Parts: sequence; C-alpha cells; structure tokens
Amino acid sequence: MKRCLANLLENAIFYGQRADVTLEDDPSRLTITIRDHGPGIPEGQRERVFSPFVRLEPSRSRNTGGSGLGLGIARHIARALGGDIGLDNHPEGGLRVNVTLPRPRNITGL
Ligand SMILES: Nc1ncnc2c1ncn2[C@@H]1O[C@H](COP(=O)(O)OP(=O)(O)OP(=O)(O)O)[C@@H](O)[C@H]1O
Ligand SMILES: [Mg+2]
Repeated sequence: MKRCLANLLENAIFYGQRADVTLEDDPSRLTITIRDHGPGIPEGQRERVFSPFVRLEPSRSRNTGGSGLGLGIARHIARALGGDIGLDNHPEGGLRVNVTLPRPRNITGL
C-alpha cells in the first residue's frame, strides 16, 4: 500500500506541482483521492497510462528518468487488495486519482 500511494503521490507532485489528499470513510469502502494541479490526462488516454512503459507527450516527461511503470504497479496493488484505481480530471483542472479499497467483511459485517 505504501508503494501504491508513493507512486501516485510522486506523479501528483512531479506532473501537478502538489498533491491534495482526501479520505472518504464509508462502512463498505475507503476512498483515497489524490488531486493535483497539473494538466490532467485527456479522457482518451486514461486507460493507456496504466499499461507498462506508456508515457504521455515527451514535452511533459522528457529527461525525468521515469519508466512508465508507476501507475500500472499502483493499480496492480490496489486490485490485489480487492480495490481499484480510477482517473478523472478535476472540473477546475488537475488530475484526480481515486483509490478505492473494500472494508474488511469482519469489521463492516458486525
Ligand atoms: N498526475 C499526473 N498528471 C498528468 N499526467 C500524469 C500524471 N501521472 C501520470 N501521468 C502521465 O502518465 C504517464 C505514466 O505514469 P507512470 O507513473 O506510470 O509512469 P512515469 O511517471 O512516467 O514513470 P515511473 O515508472 O517512474 O512512475 C506519465 O509518464 C505521464 O505522462
Ligand atoms: Mg510515475
């Protein structure tokens, strides 16, 4: 989980200057939202960026040493825990990354 969040926070700070993190605690799931203040990701690219080695336009990513693996690894970790990661752009700009994680049945089911 630490690796998952670190990959997402590193992206937010690098591509979007700063990360605003909110938690939404619900009996059935926990949602962690990481919003940044960069260019966001166009809708047509939001699935592609999870594929290994995919990096968007070089002007944004050039000379950063990134390998295009961070998002895919983060989603893999979230899914292995029964959750998932979704992307959208904030209405006022910046990328919004939503990490959802299920609440354990033995806690919520009491
Ligand atoms: N917060 C963001 N805002 C805008 N674009 C982003 C953001 N996060 C990721 N991207 C785009 O998605 C691409 C893939 O991200 P990913 O984290 O998988 O790889 P990376 O950051 O390029 O390299 P690394 O493997 O070091 O994380 C990035 O190269 C960038 O183009
Ligand atoms: Mg990255």
